[in-house]
Amino acid sequence: METGSTKFMKAIRIHTIGGPEVLTYEDVPRPSAESGEVLVRIHAAGINPADWRGRAGYLELPEELRPKIPRPSIPGSDISGIVEAVGPGVDEFSVGDAVYGLVRFPPYTEKGGGKGYAEYTTAPVTDLALKPATIDHIQAAAVPMAALTAWQLLFDHANLQSGQTVLVNGAAGGVGHFMVQFAKLKGARVIGVASGRHETFLRELGVDQFIDYTSNSVEEVIRDVDLLLDNVGGPNGYRLLDIIKRGGTLIPVNIGNYPPERLAELDVTRKDRQVRSNGAQLSEIGRLIDAGQVRIAIDSVFSLAEASKAHEHGEKGHLQGKIVLRVVD
Ligand SMILES: NC(=O)c1ccc[n+]([C@@H]2O[C@H](COP(=O)([O-])OP(=O)(O)OC[C@H]3O[C@@H](n4cnc5c(N)ncnc54)[C@H](OP(=O)(O)O)[C@@H]3O)[C@@H](O)[C@H]2O)c1
Repeated sequence: METGSTKFMKAIRIHTIGGPEVLTYEDVPRPSAESGEVLVRIHAAGINPADWRGRAGYLELPEELRPKIPRPSIPGSDISGIVEAVGPGVDEFSVGDAVYGLVRFPPYTEKGGGKGYAEYTTAPVTDLALKPATIDHIQAAAVPMAALTAWQLLFDHANLQSGQTVLVNGAAGGVGHFMVQFAKLKGARVIGVASGRHETFLRELGVDQFIDYTSNSVEEVIRDVDLLLDNVGGPNGYRLLDIIKRGGTLIPVNIGNYPPERLAELDVTRKDRQVRSNGAQLSEIGRLIDAGQVRIAIDSVFSLAEASKAHEHGEKGHLQGKIVLRVVD
């Protein structure tokens, strides 16, 4: 099959839920832009935990809450690339523009998710922004979901104020490293929790205090934070509740165990929120990147065909920044 033609492209598809081995590299029909969309020639695609959770069937969720994803499907929602064609009614972008975005997230739309593990995808123009000029596509593809999650949780939902104290658990990962930087830019005092090998990295990003969770119990050394951003969660998530001051806020970014009665005793408000595609916010974040105020950490880069290796690596945990698939050399 000729993938140089306009009819087909290379993509990763999932035919059945399972381990990384179900990610298959194959020839699939190339999409075309509909009204309000552009067709993007993808140069790089970011990888997120949501991708491997979807691939595995969202087993961490109760069965009734698991999204039903039609198969076969192309995973991925973070892209950076070049506009190849514009659909009817589009005047926000032109052919040749370099763009990046979190595409169709949450992915429960009629069209499915962003389908980023591919040579091309279509995207609603509202999900995209011009790629920051000072970074390449690999770096740009690392930004959308992680940075939008950090931005929306800190500013739209927690309403972070200058002078407040924030603890970021899982501070060195994709979401965490943006939380640290955005909270510092806002004038907050930031405590970063991660394993020891990330200490220098997190201090360079500006954390005021670093805690290595492998050698310290956070709950024994910290008290009275205004905001706990818990990127780790899990069955022991409740252990960190005592560090939040009365009237403070918990944002569980990952799924965790936080008993409601304990939250009530401590007078802590819990806010569960899911990230949403937002091209306008990516433009704002892009301006900070171009101004040199936000750094992007790349944990590792794999080719599109190596997506299963990339998932294997991500699922081991302990990332410093983001994993990205290189689609165009
Ligand atoms: N609510 C939403 O809309 C939303 C959006 C995006 C992501 N998420 C979720 O948020 C979570 C984080 O996403 P991500 O992309 O940042 O993941 P990630 O890149 O895999 O980062 C997770 C980080 O946590 C650290 N970590 C692991 N165990 C830890 C522990 N016990 N204590 C402290 N740190 C620990 C890891 O490194 P070290 O162990 O080496 O420190 C790693 O740096 C995921 O569960 C993801 O599904 C939710």
